[in-house]
Amino acid sequence: MIAPRPEVASLKPYQPGRPQGYAVTDGVNLAANENAWGPSPAARAALASAVDPARYPDMTGDRLIDALSTAWVVDPASLLLGTGSGHLIKCLAETYLRPGDRVVTVAPTFSLYGQAARLMGAEVHALPGDGHTVAFDRLPEWVDRLRPRLVYLCSPNNPTGDMAPPTVVQTLLQVLGDTGLLVLDEAYAPFAETVPDWGEALRAGAPLAILRTFSKIYGLAALRLGVLVAPPEIVRAVGRVREPFPVSSPALAAAVAAVQDTAYLEFVAREVDRGRRRLIGALTERHWDVHPSQANFVWAAPPPPWQADRLVAALRARGILIRAGAPFGVETHVRITVGRPEEIDRFLGALDVLEAERP
Ligand SMILES: Cc1ncc(COP(=O)(O)O)c(C=O)c1O
Repeated sequence: MIAPRPEVASLKPYQPGRPQGYAVTDGVNLAANENAWGPSPAARAALASAVDPARYPDMTGDRLIDALSTAWVVDPASLLLGTGSGHLIKCLAETYLRPGDRVVTVAPTFSLYGQAARLMGAEVHALPGDGHTVAFDRLPEWVDRLRPRLVYLCSPNNPTGDMAPPTVVQTLLQVLGDTGLLVLDEAYAPFAETVPDWGEALRAGAPLAILRTFSKIYGLAALRLGVLVAPPEIVRAVGRVREPFPVSSPALAAAVAAVQDTAYLEFVAREVDRGRRRLIGALTERHWDVHPSQANFVWAAPPPPWQADRLVAALRARGILIRAGAPFGVETHVRITVGRPEEIDRFLGALDVLEAERP
């Protein structure tokens, strides 16, 4: 049988939050950072009324681009749609990387950045942290030394939940100048208390590519839709790489309705904030080492003698999925998605039962 390229042979398959073949029927999935409240009712209605399946979708997604341009106050020429932001992470690597190029990211972070870069034969230099937190303050110096073509940064970071400080981002943009590009993945930014406004930097042509997704606050993960926000030159380049018709007509129709229902988005953000505070408080009371979070998940280490992977398995046996830290390279930690109040009840209740049953 023909062998894949060496870059492909060494890739690790993506591990989804819900393990393959595992149906959460009576259970609770707090492992995939989904939106437990689902999409706006208007988006569901638009999905149900959508379109002729025999026709190709609008290739550029003009109605959605217009809706996003209005909602986010950004030039339509600065927007490009993709089949989920994961697709755009890969398109950016394909657009800018050749074998031997350097790419910087941080550890721990979302695995697709390293995957996309390695697929192109690039060298990945992940700035190590202590596992609990990311060493954002050391990043400008790390980038200055390595002079990468791409920097992938997630803010709030998956899995730690903290924002990249805006001053660090600004310094990175200066350091990268005309020779590099900062990919700032803001998948979870709509859950943060405040989000920096990068409009001026984009208009000034800064080396900045922001990614947003419809899988989190918009509650449309099944429809696979992501957005690149970048100076038009970058949008045009990535647009040549991205395959045609990346977003289906039902996804486009639902997304327009979701973007316009700002009251619903505010409701979800409020609910997540409330659940996040509750989860952080309840875990802290139970002596967990909890990292502050601005996302719809919490990164934390259970107290000894619990071992994170054993706890994940014990909860799974009770129908509750949380994410182990080991695939992120941090065996002491777990990541818990902020679910609905009754899901948090089930999770905390199960923790207390396990604690009481522990020999
Ligand atoms: C940081 C980050 N970026 C991107 C994605 C992928 O999102 P999408 O569903 O848009 O491909 C995820 C998914 O969990 C994520 O955590």
